[in-house]
Amino acid sequence: TDLTHIRNFSIVAHIDHGKSTLADRLIQATNTVPDRDMKEQLLDAMDIERERGITIKANTVRIEYDALDGQHYVLNLIDTPGHVDFAYEVSRSMRAVEGSLLVVDSTQGVEAQTLANVYQAIDADHELIPVFNKIDLPASDIDRVAEQVEDVIGIDASGAIPVSAKTGEGIRDVLESIIANLPPPEGNRDAPLKAMLVDSWYDAYLGVIVLVRIKDGVLKKGDRVRFMQNGTVHQVDRIGVFKPSMQTVDDLGPGEIGFLTASIKQVRDTRVGDTITHEKKPCDGPLPGFKPSQPVVFCGLFPVDSAEFEDLRDAIDKLALNDASFSYEMETSAALGFGFRCGFLGLLHLEVIRDRIEREYDIELITTAPSVIYHVFMKDGTKIDLHNPADMPDLTHVDHVEEPRIKATILVPDEFLGDVLKLCQDRRGIQEDLTYAGSRAMVVYDLPLNEVVFDFYDRLKSVTKGYASFDYQLTGYRQDNLVKMQILVNEEPVDALSMMVHRDRAEMRGRAMCEKLKDLIPRHMFKIPIQAAIGGKVIARETLAALRKDVTAKCYGGDATRKRKLLDKQKAGKKKMRQFGKVDIPQEAFISALKMD
Ligand code: GTP
Repeated sequence: TDLTHIRNFSIVAHIDHGKSTLADRLIQATNTVPDRDMKEQLLDAMDIERERGITIKANTVRIEYDALDGQHYVLNLIDTPGHVDFAYEVSRSMRAVEGSLLVVDSTQGVEAQTLANVYQAIDADHELIPVFNKIDLPASDIDRVAEQVEDVIGIDASGAIPVSAKTGEGIRDVLESIIANLPPPEGNRDAPLKAMLVDSWYDAYLGVIVLVRIKDGVLKKGDRVRFMQNGTVHQVDRIGVFKPSMQTVDDLGPGEIGFLTASIKQVRDTRVGDTITHEKKPCDGPLPGFKPSQPVVFCGLFPVDSAEFEDLRDAIDKLALNDASFSYEMETSAALGFGFRCGFLGLLHLEVIRDRIEREYDIELITTAPSVIYHVFMKDGTKIDLHNPADMPDLTHVDHVEEPRIKATILVPDEFLGDVLKLCQDRRGIQEDLTYAGSRAMVVYDLPLNEVVFDFYDRLKSVTKGYASFDYQLTGYRQDNLVKMQILVNEEPVDALSMMVHRDRAEMRGRAMCEKLKDLIPRHMFKIPIQAAIGGKVIARETLAALRKDVTAKCYGGDATRKRKLLDKQKAGKKKMRQFGKVDIPQEAFISALKMD
């Protein structure tokens, strides 16, 4: 296809504003997929995505469109992940296209993720087409949303297209506006091959599938290509496009988006953002701006049943095949035995992986407190990247500790503003900005990431009854008074409950954790002290009283089946517990103890 008849675009939206539904309608309106094959939300492949309603892997589709000008066009839609954890993937896929549809739910208005993603689109020099969705609903208010888009985002909303992705109203206008308002791609067919690796994933039959955007040159089956960042050379055994099912083609030229396979075994060998060129006739240099995505949140995953360790290893190996941004290494814990220390792009990423292990592999897990990476500067001048609070060196050797900070943007209706400010303040936040758009406030806070990784988002949702939206980006590291707090149960430290805290907040956190644990740990035949300590100093303490009676005592000499039932019940209760010294701690204690109210 010649360049002037190609348009490449992505869709920017807040979760639930209708991105997937709109994509489905565009595919349907152009007969890309025969009606009988049309499933709701074609682009969200994985079950778990569908259940949670979040798009995780970028997907793509090639749409053929006969426009009103009588010409035939090829439109390539790249579906970008909507969540902040995948910001780097979003920014790469944005660089693979020239424009974006900015979808805003006209019953809701602009939200935090709309903002975060729209700035990425603007950074990538995109033309933007505002699309106001859900006009079939009575609460739809296009004028208000237009005003918001102009005030908050600062772009012209006069060309906005009102649509209903549900009924299909306005879909033609969207297609026509893509042709009229988005620029065609640029590129030189005769130049050496220069292609961007936009995404990659593992397929059980084909091996790794690599999504590429050709900038210059032509890619053909059989070509030997080099991935410039890691230097590997592969022979291309298949190229094609997504319609959205895979269809092989003879070649891909400038401006086109498609896939290649080349007997690549692991997603790890393909770095998003890398540049692909011919081995024999390479391009002058890689595309700018490559950076590998780095995990920022770490936690330990241990099987509840230690006999399942090998199964867990197998599950983690398999998941990692398809997810280059998930890192892991073996970890042993005095209390929890063998497990893995895993790194994630963010909390959602952590939750998705944990869910998949529990569900798809049927392994019950203990997840330790999520932690961020601290920079620990030692008195001898060395620096340690601390991923696990349990590894914190003795304080006498430590000079100072730095922690990662984020810039958080929160949009919230006026009436909840006070609660949101209090929450941010409680989490050691520093207010940077506060502005109003209509009846909603936008607050920007500088916050420590470690105060956000655990339950910030849950708390935000609960204090605002779900009306706030939230997004963040990492800004850098800053020194603060941070210490390791240990929890001791029956005088034994439980390393899985160790955490880094700010010194001023340690007593409060310690007390809260001891109180929680006292409720979560069942009584034993003996008295159990539960303590929080910094270094050797106890800063909080609770005591769990001893259990006075044997559960079966009352049945002595009585009905044997009743006795058996009671004992079985006790055994079932044990299954989900782990022994620490002489004490059984239930699985849910590890998570619940860390939640702050
Ligand atoms: P993520 O994939 O989670 O980012 O969400 P999304 O932006 O793709 O939203 P999705 O397409 O899943 O739509 C969210 C909900 O809104 C679904 O229940 C849709 O059926 C509904 N919806 C989407 N568009 C319309 C519309 O035009 N009108 C109405 N009434 N509902 C819509």
